[in-house]
Amino acid sequence: MRIILLGPPGVGKGTQARFIAQRYGIPQISTGDMLRAAVRAGSAIGLEARRYMDAGALVPDGVIIELVRDRVREPDCGAGFLLDGFPRTVPQAQAMAAAAIRVDLVVEFWLAREELLERSSGRLVHPASGRTYHVRFSPPRVPGKDNITGEDLVRRADDESEAATKRLEVYDLHAVPLAYYYAGLRASGGQDAPRYLRMSADGAVDSVRDKLFKVLDARRVAATG
Ligand code: AP5
Repeated sequence: MRIILLGPPGVGKGTQARFIAQRYGIPQISTGDMLRAAVRAGSAIGLEARRYMDAGALVPDGVIIELVRDRVREPDCGAGFLLDGFPRTVPQAQAMAAAAIRVDLVVEFWLAREELLERSSGRLVHPASGRTYHVRFSPPRVPGKDNITGEDLVRRADDESEAATKRLEVYDLHAVPLAYYYAGLRASGGQDAPRYLRMSADGAVDSVRDKLFKVLDARRVAATG
């Protein structure tokens, strides 16, 4: 199964992506996590990406496209993959198509703006593993500490109010053209055009997960039946 999970910052893509990866045995490929790892490693890509990320802007398409193209060619992607937060622009989607990276389904989450800001403003992360908590909705057992390692949890720089608002604006700017791009592909009748589905991410983590599993299970049965 080859899935793309899209949606505004803080909607819960990373949270749900982990469940999907586990249930369907496919790797979660998060461009945000890949970039944060590059920043921590101090690599050339990380140094370039950081100034865009901290400001809530998108990293240039060329950098991201190369990262993803290389990643999906790795052996663990043979049975499928879940792209979390990629593509975010039409040129990124076009580059995927040009590289013959086929996708079955695109799921776009949506949620009211106030709730998006509440989710991202309360987020805490364990930098080494990417494990995510929320001060109110899924607090760690010991305040400020990772449940598994006991290490410190941090807030992401781009969850600060100004950058978080900017990220929402950037998302809004690209989301509609991207949806049109996929709708156009589908309408053109191309056999490889993925299905595009919009889904509310409102509700508790488990209820969003169950709703998503229902859709994906049905899709899997349809694909193999
Ligand atoms: P990225 O890391 O992908 O950030 P994002 O898309 O802005 O998404 P977030 O990670 O903020 O949120 P999420 O939807 O994963 O929510 P989460 O599950 O954590 O990208 C960061 C930056 O990298 C970008 O701004 C850009 O600069 C760059 N970048 C990345 N990809 C790029 C690309 N393709 N092109 C160009 N640049 C790129 O949940 C959020 C919080 O809510 C958590 O605390 C969680 O516990 C809580 N939560 C989750 N679900 C629920 C629920 N149902 N109820 C209550 N709380 C919930």
